[in-house]
Order: sequence, then C-alpha cells, then structure tokens
Amino acid sequence: MNADHQHIHKHSEVDLSNLMGRLLVFLLSVLALSSAVDRSNFKTCDQSGFCKRHRNPATKVEYAVIGDSVKINETSVNAVLKSAENELHLSVLFLEDSTIRVLIDENANALRARYQPLDALAREPSQQRIAESDVTRTEESVVINAPSGHTISVQFKPFRIDVQKKDELLLSLNSGSFLKFEHFRTKDESRDDGEGFWEESFKSHTDSKPHGSSSVGMDVSFVGFKFVYGLPEHADSFVLHSTAGQEPYRMYNLDVFEFELNTNMALYGSVPYIIAHNPKQSASVLWLNAAETWIDIDSSTADKGVLASLVDKFRSSQEVPQIDAHFMSESGLIDVFLFLGPTPNDVFRQYSTLTGVYPLPPQFAIAYHQCRWNYNDEEDVANVHAGFDEHDIPMDVLWLDIEHTDGKKYFTWDPVKFANPQKMINELAAKGRKMVTIIDPHIKKDDGYHVYKDAKDLGFFIKDKDGAKDYEGHCWPGASMYLDFVNPAVRDYWAGKFSYEQYSGSTKDLFTWNDMNEPSVFSGPEVTMHKDAKHYDDWEHRDIHNIYGFYQHSSTYRGQQMRSNNKLRPFVLTRSFFVGSQRTAAVWTGDNMADWGHLKSSVPMLLSLSVAGIPHVGADVGGFFKNVDEQLLARWYQAAAFQPFFRAHAHIDCKRREPWLFSEGTKNVIRDAIRTRYSFLPYWYTLFYEHSIVGKPVMRPLWSEFPEDESSFDEEREWMVGSAVLVRPVMDPDVESVSLYLPGRNEVWYEWDTHKARRSPGAVYVDTPMSKIPHFQRGGTIIPMRERIRRASSLMKDDPITLYIASNYKGDFANGSLYLDDGESYEYKNGNYLYWSFQYKKEGESLYTIKSKNLDESGVYDPDVYIEKIVIRGVRYYPRSVHMYYDDYNPETLEFSHDRDSHVMVIRKPSAFVSREFRIDIHT
Ligand code: NOJ
Repeated sequence: MNADHQHIHKHSEVDLSNLMGRLLVFLLSVLALSSAVDRSNFKTCDQSGFCKRHRNPATKVEYAVIGDSVKINETSVNAVLKSAENELHLSVLFLEDSTIRVLIDENANALRARYQPLDALAREPSQQRIAESDVTRTEESVVINAPSGHTISVQFKPFRIDVQKKDELLLSLNSGSFLKFEHFRTKDESRDDGEGFWEESFKSHTDSKPHGSSSVGMDVSFVGFKFVYGLPEHADSFVLHSTAGQEPYRMYNLDVFEFELNTNMALYGSVPYIIAHNPKQSASVLWLNAAETWIDIDSSTADKGVLASLVDKFRSSQEVPQIDAHFMSESGLIDVFLFLGPTPNDVFRQYSTLTGVYPLPPQFAIAYHQCRWNYNDEEDVANVHAGFDEHDIPMDVLWLDIEHTDGKKYFTWDPVKFANPQKMINELAAKGRKMVTIIDPHIKKDDGYHVYKDAKDLGFFIKDKDGAKDYEGHCWPGASMYLDFVNPAVRDYWAGKFSYEQYSGSTKDLFTWNDMNEPSVFSGPEVTMHKDAKHYDDWEHRDIHNIYGFYQHSSTYRGQQMRSNNKLRPFVLTRSFFVGSQRTAAVWTGDNMADWGHLKSSVPMLLSLSVAGIPHVGADVGGFFKNVDEQLLARWYQAAAFQPFFRAHAHIDCKRREPWLFSEGTKNVIRDAIRTRYSFLPYWYTLFYEHSIVGKPVMRPLWSEFPEDESSFDEEREWMVGSAVLVRPVMDPDVESVSLYLPGRNEVWYEWDTHKARRSPGAVYVDTPMSKIPHFQRGGTIIPMRERIRRASSLMKDDPITLYIASNYKGDFANGSLYLDDGESYEYKNGNYLYWSFQYKKEGESLYTIKSKNLDESGVYDPDVYIEKIVIRGVRYYPRSVHMYYDDYNPETLEFSHDRDSHVMVIRKPSAFVSREFRIDIHT
C-alpha cells in the first residue's frame, strides 16, 4: 500500500479489505492528489458544544468577588468568586520579574479534580512578597502596588482584574465578562445543561463524556495595542487577526492532511500564548491549559467596553486601540500568566524563565539535514552520503523515515534493507555525519513485538473509555496501541528504550524524530484519539490532549541523555508540541506542500513559534507533498538557509530531490545556499547559546529588534537572524527584484555581497538573479564566520574564523560575540567553552581599534582556533597602517587591502586567536 493510500485510509476510514473499498481508495487518492484539506473532517466552533456556549453572549454569567472572602498573604490575594451558577476559588500570585499568575478553580469539594499541565513549566515559579502597605482594600476592590511597579486591581462586582503601569491600563481580565466555568455536576435529567454537555457526536464518533462538560473560559484585554502575535501553530498571518464573524483560532494538536494556508484551523501543536506589542510596550499572556482550546480575537478601541472610563482619565479612550482575546478550553482550570515586559526582550526572558529555554543543541543540529520518506536501504543511504561529497555539498545528518523499520515497529530495522545499521551509521560517522531515525508513539499490535508485549503486560497503554481494554486505533502499522506517556513509569520505560543495548543497531551518532504524536489516530475522530479514552490517574484524553506529544518527545530526550550517561547532548525533532516543548525538542511545521504559498507561509509560521519560546524551528525544504520544480526548490533552500532548523524532506511518492538530480545551475544555487549556511554556523551557534542564557529567539521578527518602528510590525516576508542579519529571500517565481524594508532609525545596512550601504528607515529594491539571497548586515555589528566549508560541520570545529565588521552609521563602532565549545558534549557545563566579544571603535582622529575581550571568565576552552581574516564594511577613511598587539610592546605589522569604492577593508592573517586577548590598531 503506498502512502497516499494510507493517507486516504486515514482520512476516509475506508475498509480496504474488499475490492470496492480498494477502488474507492484509488479514486479518492486521485482526488486527494489535487485537493487540499477536507475541512469536513475537522470541527468548527459550532460543532463543538462548549465552544459554541462560551462564544454565545447570551450564556454569560456575572461573577463577583465576595468581599469578606478576600485574604491577602505575603505573595498572593485569595478570594471566593460567586455567580448564579457556582462558586470558584481565585488566587492572584505575584511572581518575580514582572510576572503575575491568576488561578481560578472550583472549590476543594468539587466532584472531580481538574488537570493542570504543570510539567510544561521549567520550574516552580518564584513568588515575590508584597508589603501590607502596598495593599489598599475597599468595599469595591483590592488594589496592590506590585513589586514590579505595576498596579493590580481586583474589582469585585462584576469581577475583573486590571493591570496598570503608572497611569496607563495595560491588561484587563474579564472586562468582557466572558468568565465561564462549567463545574462538575451529577447528571440531573430534568436540567438542560446545554447542547453536547453529556454526550457529543462528530461524524461517526461519539464522545461519551461520563463527567459532563467541564469547560472554562475568560477574556483578556490588551489595552493600547494594535498588534498581537503567537498562538502557534496555524498556517496563517504572523499578526493575529480579528475572528469577529469567523472561526476562532483553534488549538488542538491534529494531523491535518494537506493543510490549507491562511486559516486558523488547528494544526500539529499548541502554545496558547499571545504577545502584544506597541512602540512603547510589550506584554504577553500564557493560558496554561492542555485541553482543546479556542481563542477569539477582537480588535477595537477602549471606548467600546467597561474599560472606557478608566482609560479616559488620561487619554481619550476612542484613540486607544484594544485587542480582546477570549480563551475557551474544554476542561482543566484557569491558570493564566501575565508577563509585563516592558520590552520584547524582557517578555522573552520572563516567558522563558517560566517555561524554559532550548538548551544548547549539538552543532550538527543547526547544520543541514537531508531527509525523505524514504531512503530505501543501506545502499541508497551510502549513495546519497557519497553524492553529497561528490558534488561538494555539505550535509550533516541523513534521516530515515518509517520504512526503515521492520513492519513499522519502532526501535527495529528492516532485516533485509537495513541489515547492518551499526555499520551504516558508523560509515556516516566516519565522515563526521549523523543519522536520525523516526520513532512514533503508536505501537504495532503484535505479540511478537517486544515493545507491544512489555507495554501490554505492564499496563502501559492508554485505555478505552471504560478503562477495561487497551485503546486501539489505526496508524502506520495497522492496528496500534498508544503508550500512555502521562504515566511517569511509561516515560521512564520509554527513555530506557534508547539505551544502546535496548535499541539494537543504535550508536551515539543516531538521533530521533518523533512524529505522529498529536497523537495521530487514522481511525479516530478528527484523525486523533477519542476524548473519553483513559489515561493514568483517571485523566481523560480530553484533559491532556495537547501535552501528549510533549511527554513523548521529552522522554525521548531524556533517553538520549541517559544512554550517554549525560555526556552527550541529545537531538530530538517533534511534530506535536506544547508550552515548554523547547526544553527538549526542535519543531518542524509538518506536511507542507511544494508551492510558493507554502514557502511564504513558512516565515509567519516559524516567527510565531519563535516568539512563543520555541527557537529551533523549520519547515520541510522543498515542500512535503507534490513534486517540486527547480526554481521553487532552489529558492526554498535559500530561505531555509536562514531559518533555524534546515532540513529537506519529501513525501514517499515525490520524485527524488537530491540536489544533483537537477540542472547544473540549480545544483549550484542549492550548493551555495547550503554553503552559506555553513559559513554562518559560528554565528548561529552563538545565537543558540545566547538564547539558552536569556531566552531571546534566534529567528526574530523585526519588531523585536526595532520595537519602535511601527511600520514593520506586520512584516512577514523578512526577518532577523539574531540582531545582526536581516533576510528577505525570494519567495515568488520569476522575480527579477524584490523590495524590502530596512527598519530602525539611525541605522545603516550593508548588502551582504556588494557591501553597499543603505540608510534606514526605508524601502529598497534588490536585484534577484537565481544566485541571490537578499540579506544585509546591520551596521554596528560583528559576525563570526567560517569560510572554509567542509563536508560536515563537525569537521569545521577547529577551523579559523573570519570576522565581518559592519561600521555603524557614524562609522565609529561595532561589536559582536562568539561562543565556541566542542559542539557535542556537556563539557561546556564544566567550563569548556569560550564566550568572547569583539569590538571595533574609533579611538581618536586617526586611530581605530579592534579588540577582543573575554565575556565570561568561567569559560576556559582554549582551542587552536585563530582569526584568519577581518573584513570591515563602511570604511570611510584611508587606512595607512595596521598593527596587531598581543601585548603593548611588540606590535606586528599586518597586511591589509582597502577598496575605496566599496569602502571595504580586509585585514589578512591577523594571527589572532579567538581565546586570547588582542588589539589591532588601524592608523588613518
Ligand atoms: C508524517 C510526517 O509529517 C512526515 O514528515 C513523514 O514523512 C510521514 N509521517 C511518514 O512518517
């Protein structure tokens, strides 16, 4: 059965066992090849009872804080919230670094506990004390002057929480009175609890809802903001748009066949997190809930609702933009974190303090990956491996998809096609390369399969709704069971599977791809698991759905750590993700398509992931479905060379796409794009290191670097790699030039290959022959590069560095940094790293200097890596002599050249080491 058939099976639930069925499958597969997503397979808000109820203003209830119930302790305010429907418990907690948490749950005597996805958090948040003198209590409210300098007021009736900074209102909770909390109740036949409250059907599936609906919802207003971002994953614009009169954004991890663009339908992963930004302020909100969640976005002005009088005190509310986000979750409780900024970098730090950073990846992970479904056998692997060398194209990692297994049993190898996996991996490793195999969470129902047997015997599978039998669904292997990763014992078991002994054929050079972990269930409702399936500790699948994949990929990560005794850094790629996934995985955007629209949409999709805390992200280069034409493929490589996770991949039915199978011209363009990526690796690696310290994304929207430049707030054709490189790749066919926007004030930008300086702000045109990837170096920055490109990044580890210095607009300053270590182990945690800065400065009328400085004395890595060349852009003086000083006494005269037309100076062989302090004097 080929893959399209499998996909059709998955989406139409056709029985393949008879001839008619086969015919139908064939016809459908012909149709599927030309069509996009079948929307009828996925719910709309109206088809989901709780969403419909929450959205309907007629079902609003008023909640009030019971004044007498308010208790204030050192770090929080606690109170009872009451409505005609129920009583709830409210806590407002003050956390370190301008962060506030609001929890709303049922009272302790609730019929059932509510799931809280606390494993998504990196740590227990640290609370901050509030002094008694900071609290003002009246009959109507409690007002707290928070340690962050913000004023938080809890209004009693109707219940609302406002966050003000000085006099300006920033955020407000429940100003639209959408707080709704469907408490657990006993089934009382005479009462109408609403459509689908006790049972709900979709297509041929029925959700039995034994506990009834337990949905929760509330609105959050961002006051003073016109732009909000986040909520990955959707194939939609980077700026979140109003959903008035449309479907809300949906967060429900789903395997969507041939997903469409420009829609906010659910996709593979969910981070219910929104960042608002205006020229003076960034602030963000995390709705920590792992159940199916819908979010309405409405944009208006502050005069429209109850906040008008508050805003009017200082500005006309008519002029103050406002965005309201209404979160609605099917179960769980309300656990909201407010991050108050004020700058984008503050928000990135605040969010990553709570949910964690992406730890420093091994270097190969940020180099180029070659994948397809499938590399057929060991010979095929060997040929592709050799092909990259023959054509002088660097490549770090070769990937094997599901066909490498013995009958889709993960952790096994096809005994004929992959009879000697260790030898195969070692051959790659001998040339500095790695391998990745796919390991999905569904387990083939086959008593002869050790994982199935173990898990069955140990009771490690998710159970069906009655809790009696193991839940059974269809996936690649046919009948499959699903490991219950919610159970810590299952996670330990899974981690153990990655030991070299248990995963036979594996070596330290084999890494992991976790796919289908939404989980994808071909035979289930919306291609996923029944919501009433039962997990460990009596949780229902509906409670944990969006964190399921997170648990799988984080156990995989731990397994890789364990197999090396915590010596080597893991690498895991996941399709499904949740809040905190960045701590253990890179993410790709799933099954895109070989068309220009999908290439373009990779940018907003990756930016949305990036600002939501997940930095190592990429889209399948070339597009997964459909055959790709040469021009599109070449342009796709050029764009992806500047995106964090860089992997080519294709569907099993697509024609082979190794770069040398195309015309010489296309091959050369692809080779150049990949080589460009390798030349920038020291810079990328430094950015990933810096992310791991301060939580800043690696691929950045323009507004994070130029927070005041409003004209770039909706930019999604171009992005920044770190703070020094701006990229605007070609993403349309046959274009001779592209226009792009250079952001900022008092900035100068150097076109990468011509050195041509352009002042910002402003739009410029760049000619775009096939060889061109429009990218610019920002004035005032220094970028470390490696220009001797080898077959794999590990072989470049000790190669010399070239520094690209771009003078700022005054021509008197630039700086940058370099992080280096062994690229693969945890030795950097023992100080085996170096983190140095480089600075270029005008010191006087006739003197410029370049100096290096150790930024972190605890780093003691001292490799023989030297600087072989320094390129300075924007040199508007005439250099007369250049001297290198390792100390003050013995200057060495250095050779240099200076091009007066392009204003570029090149210092050759400065014989400086990256781990030794030096000073270079340029006399003019
Ligand atoms: C779906 C994944 O998204 C795709 O990348 C992979 O090739 C197929 N599953 C087969 O494993």
